[in-house]
Amino acid sequence: MVKLRIRSSQWYDGVDNAPHRPYLRAVGLTEADFAKPLVGVLVSWSELGPCNFHNLELVRYVKEGVKEAGGVGLAAPTIVVNDGINMGTPGMRYSLISRDLIADTIEAQFNSHGVDAWVGIGGCDKTQPGIMMAMVRLDLPAVYLYGGSAEAGWLGERELTIEDAFEAVGAYLAGKITLDELKRVEELSFPTYGTCQGMFTANTMATLGEALGLSLLGSASPPATSARRRKYAVESGRAVLKAAELGVTPRKVVTYDALYNAAVTLFATAGSTNAILHLLAIAHEANVKFTLDDFDEISRRVPVIAALRPAGPYAMQDLDRIGGVPRVLKKLYKAGLLRPEALTVEGEPIGKLLERWEPPAVPEAGILYDVEKPYKPYSGIRILRGNLAPSGAVMKIGAADRLRFEGRAKVYDSEAEAFKAVAAGEIKPGDVVIIRYEGPKGAPGMPEMLKVTAAIVGAGLGDAVALVTDGRFSGATRGIMVGHVAPEAAVGGPIALVQNGDRVVIDGEAGLIKLEVSEEELEKRRKAWAPPPPKYKGGLLAKYAALVQQADKGAVTSPSAWGT
Ligand code: FES
Repeated sequence: MVKLRIRSSQWYDGVDNAPHRPYLRAVGLTEADFAKPLVGVLVSWSELGPCNFHNLELVRYVKEGVKEAGGVGLAAPTIVVNDGINMGTPGMRYSLISRDLIADTIEAQFNSHGVDAWVGIGGCDKTQPGIMMAMVRLDLPAVYLYGGSAEAGWLGERELTIEDAFEAVGAYLAGKITLDELKRVEELSFPTYGTCQGMFTANTMATLGEALGLSLLGSASPPATSARRRKYAVESGRAVLKAAELGVTPRKVVTYDALYNAAVTLFATAGSTNAILHLLAIAHEANVKFTLDDFDEISRRVPVIAALRPAGPYAMQDLDRIGGVPRVLKKLYKAGLLRPEALTVEGEPIGKLLERWEPPAVPEAGILYDVEKPYKPYSGIRILRGNLAPSGAVMKIGAADRLRFEGRAKVYDSEAEAFKAVAAGEIKPGDVVIIRYEGPKGAPGMPEMLKVTAAIVGAGLGDAVALVTDGRFSGATRGIMVGHVAPEAAVGGPIALVQNGDRVVIDGEAGLIKLEVSEEELEKRRKAWAPPPPKYKGGLLAKYAALVQQADKGAVTSPSAWGT
């Protein structure tokens, strides 16, 4: 086992390290344990929301697996910002910021304490990409373990997810449901701990964990309440030491091919647009050139084969019933859409794992479709460029599958202003709602426009208006949305120059976002524009605003990949 102690021997062996050992004896390690590989069990845990509420319990099972495999596991925490709860100013600003902060806390802890390998347990939208970024950054043998999503709720025959609670607010404001009905949805939409139930950002990232090869095949879909969570926790503990033995580290896993497979899976499951930002950030940490152009090319070839919310009616627990993410991946693999040679943390290429994997003998029941006869012929996401977003933007196609939208701009300098306008009935069919100064630097932290988009859907304007922003959308968002506009308004991107009444063309087929204003006029407006003063002069928000890169670069804060 000594060969697996690639770092801990420097911290804990020999006379010089005699003062280090008492610290670990004090937390329960014995003489024999010092000869074993030290495995960090990173856990995102918090009682401030349901998503990571139960993750501490999983630590025990991961440690069991580590012990069985001959190692010793010690747990360490990272923070959680629950995306669905944090809101307002400055609350919502911390969500994306927490992703990089989480990666940084892991780097600081595990590089300080000399762990040999680690398992990362995550839950909410940002803990997962944060852990995956740290995996490739540290490049120690590591396995990602998802805490699982919450069970769906029920209102009579109707399956509820948290998306229903958000949209019920819009429906209530529009006078379509009563306060009692809103209350009923509120009470029933989130019945257990775990993450949000649809293919929103948390389940998207968990799904991509499997597609990237960073987590065990099959480990993403069991609900948080399932006993299979504990099984995967034990297996992840064992697997990380097997990966160490085989010399499999995350940078060997997160190659161009793995990112390619993740992008294919993202589009095939109509996953969250946030995943684009996170995959760009993971690619950045892995020092792999994978850009918006790659997403653009892949998005045009991959149909949607999963009818998961918000694109379809089903929740993650429904996909789990029919075999989970491996069933999706196997279909993509059989159709030749995956790169089968991409290595996984299990030490084998993904193609080999999928060859062996057999789906349960249950019908797909409208939850999954074939690539040849898909749920939708094209993915719900498009990459756009044009004079409104020269470095790129991400389009989410609405429920009506409209690829083109043309309308007059209604401009707001914050989400709060836009929300007020929707609530006041100011937004009319045909409007292009522009929400700016909500980008990585400007907000800072690129908040999600969930409240305003849910209000638009709730008001029955879902596919009658388009929304364009340098902020982000929640994975639960529906309607015609263009986000991640780069460069953002705060650095003088053209979105800062839009005026009320300007004509905007959004064309998903052509990959275009165009402001129909002459170059001379834009130049005039550019000369008159001045950067706004920073919103925060101290604390984390100020530090973040000073460091963060644009959305087309994944909004990362690390200047370049570790060790490059
Ligand atoms: Fe954590 Fe939705 S709030 S996954």
